[in-house]
Amino acid sequence: MDVSAPVTAADYALERNPNAASAPDRELAMEAPAFGMVFTDHMARATWTLEGGWGNRRVEPFADLSLHPGATVLHYSQQVFEGLKAYRWADGSTRLFRPEGNARRMAASAARLSLPPVSEDEFLASVEALLAVDGDWVPTQGESSLYLRPLLMGTEACLGVRPSHEVEYLLMACPVGAYFAGGVRPVSIWVAQGFHRAGEGGTGQAKTGGNYAGSLMPQQQAQDNGCDQVLFLDAREDKYIEELGGMNVFAVRRDGTVVTPRVTGTILEGVTRDSVIELLRAEGREVVERDIALEDLRSGIADGSVVELFACGTAAVVTPIARLVSPSFDEVVADGGPGTLTMHVRGALTDIQYGRAEDRFGWMTRVS
Ligand code: COI
Repeated sequence: MDVSAPVTAADYALERNPNAASAPDRELAMEAPAFGMVFTDHMARATWTLEGGWGNRRVEPFADLSLHPGATVLHYSQQVFEGLKAYRWADGSTRLFRPEGNARRMAASAARLSLPPVSEDEFLASVEALLAVDGDWVPTQGESSLYLRPLLMGTEACLGVRPSHEVEYLLMACPVGAYFAGGVRPVSIWVAQGFHRAGEGGTGQAKTGGNYAGSLMPQQQAQDNGCDQVLFLDAREDKYIEELGGMNVFAVRRDGTVVTPRVTGTILEGVTRDSVIELLRAEGREVVERDIALEDLRSGIADGSVVELFACGTAAVVTPIARLVSPSFDEVVADGGPGTLTMHVRGALTDIQYGRAEDRFGWMTRVS
């Protein structure tokens, strides 16, 4: 392999799916897909070996995988993933939102999990190659999009605890609408009791499946208590808010300033988080990244100095938060309705993503 030449979509060999959905079936499947439940006709793949590096790039029919039962990923969770979206603009073109941000984060996550790096051009090439064949799966209606899920995993059959000598890169895609059932609505947040998402020096900053597996039980407790998502506090003091099960969190103060937990190595550095900060600062707003004690947040909600809370992420976009709940309190934020600034940020972000506003930050990448 010529390691100096950038990888392009042309490096992906195409095997078409003979059973690809017909246009009417595809339209039907895309009508109101639950998040991550409908998959397109193809997936992109590449294989890495210790001796040969990356190669065997292909786009092939979407199908079950064949994995050795001893594969490292199945035993020791040597795995990282990403999430980004492709949007259909009114002019028929397809655009990606800040894909280089996801590529960079995947490289950082991979390093933490001792997986081989996927270069930015390799990452983008795989997305372009998949969209070249599955482009009709980018939805056109409302605020829907095609969610792209790249995945890296150790596939070598080896029960010894060491980095896999064989790694598979996979890219799959799902047409999606709103992440939360019931569309864009204010959600309720449960404060995790006795569980933490990440400790210092752990894998909290990496987008690796284990972080999400560990969130499932606290997330179930959230649901058992009538909430939509769980909020984790820091593991050292159980005092400062960090992030939700799968998204970052912001608070809006009555004086118009916006605060969000600073990234300390235990919080995922969200591409949407970063975009929200940039958008608000460009509007002249003060955005402060700092430690936020749960008790201060609670008292701020109670005395009216905190007027809005929202969650954000690729999947969640910007989602208003109505309530903060634990066994000992139930704080309703302002009147519980979607906050004005929250919906403004959501609008400003989605206007750029869907081409309704000028892309003044240079965030959108045209793929077709
Ligand atoms: C995303 O927002 O892309 C996520 O990865 C969150 C969740 C769906 C795991």
